[in-house]
Amino acid sequence: MAQQKTDVMEKLVSLCKRRGFVFQSSEVYGGLNGCWDFGPLGVELLRNFKEAWWQAMTSREDVEGIDASILMHPRTWEASGHVEHFTDPMVDCRECKARFRADQIEDMPCPKHTNRPAVRCQANFTEARQFNLMFKTFVGPVEDEGSVVYLRPETCQGIYVNFLNVQASARQKVPFGIAQIGKAFRNEINTKNFLYRVREFEQMEMQFFVKPGTDEEWFEYWRQERMEWYLDLGMTPEKVRFHHQVPEERAHYAKEAYDIYYEFPFGWSEIEGVHNRTDYDLSRHQQYSGKNLTYFDDRSQERYTPYVIETSVGVGRPLMAFLVDAYREEEVRGEKRTVLRFHPRLAPIKAAVFPLVNRDNMPEVAQRVVADLRPYLRVFYDDGGAVGRRYRRMDEVGTPYCVTVDSQTLQDETVTVRDRDSMEQVRVSIAGLRAHLEERIRTWKRPG
Ligand code: GAP
Repeated sequence: MAQQKTDVMEKLVSLCKRRGFVFQSSEVYGGLNGCWDFGPLGVELLRNFKEAWWQAMTSREDVEGIDASILMHPRTWEASGHVEHFTDPMVDCRECKARFRADQIEDMPCPKHTNRPAVRCQANFTEARQFNLMFKTFVGPVEDEGSVVYLRPETCQGIYVNFLNVQASARQKVPFGIAQIGKAFRNEINTKNFLYRVREFEQMEMQFFVKPGTDEEWFEYWRQERMEWYLDLGMTPEKVRFHHQVPEERAHYAKEAYDIYYEFPFGWSEIEGVHNRTDYDLSRHQQYSGKNLTYFDDRSQERYTPYVIETSVGVGRPLMAFLVDAYREEEVRGEKRTVLRFHPRLAPIKAAVFPLVNRDNMPEVAQRVVADLRPYLRVFYDDGGAVGRRYRRMDEVGTPYCVTVDSQTLQDETVTVRDRDSMEQVRVSIAGLRAHLEERIRTWKRPG
């Protein structure tokens, strides 16, 4: 069983490379650990995924969006607690010189003794010492202590320092939230599991500012909202659950925290965190900057420092969860197929268009269908090989609909639309095709 599960991960990584979802960063130089590049289909999946999140957040009246810079004033990270607390315990192996995160050696293989966990080499380890995960760099030409800046390890600090700018410019009243999608960097001691623990990634974070005393209610609200979002995007309900963090697990800023876990082939693991950060961040920025970051509530005529409910997710982990969730190997009429059953909203290509054969004007009609759809939907034209093989190629990258122009099309201007999941076909008029596809994308339900 364990072997089968690892196989799925291996097959998925290989599919991601072969079909242009994810490539290893700077592969020609042997790669750079913890960094990945999204290929032509991967970038579409990524954009669709981020768009689904952005839409869920900012189509609400009480959430605004921002895009803050990656480099921030270095005092930010003293105020946030990252200079002091954002560390992991690290040990070195005296024998093979490898470095490990001391609290995760059970999961890590020993590079010298293959098939043996690093934990069995414990006698050779140095004492654990704390390692700060922030990437340091310098602004300007002089590399001294005064010019140190950090690549942000989380995007939310750009939200806190802009809290009053957004509130005043957008004329928002507490409770309201600020959403952001952007890169974050962590110099992880050990990277692992493909996109799961990496050094450069994108975060999608939303900070919701509330009146103290209403925070627990809002915390409950947002954690349910976030779970619903995964289910609405078609994630298998049995494969996703909450993990309630006990006090020892919580970050220094959190009064309460729930993680959303997905059952990956390598086990249940966190994909998103929902945190009650209290007034920790705004109070600290107030203290370190000397600026007043309190809010005046003109309805209750009170001045207070809002509490923050945070929803925080790195794009790569849930993206990989959706890939794993969608991946199936099936036997269909005696033939094997690999299929990615993505929600059509996530699918990189929404529809493929095929001429049944490359003659009798079918390619020209198919090209016309493509040109009509292209301004509205991402479509792909394919006239190579038997139609069955073209279906299989599209199944493998999760294309939900395949449209075929056949001899009947030439008589009555209808095409067949084949469904990826049920493989059933219906005939639709070319004139109504776009509306038909858009309706099916909108109303799609995951097959039981
Ligand atoms: N602002 C709060 C915060 O950053 P976190 O629990 O450290 O909280 C939030 O991270 C999310 O960011 C995680 O649930 C995960 O999705 C993602 N994440 C964190 N570190 C990551 C890494 N090294 N690689 C990939 N994703 C990561």
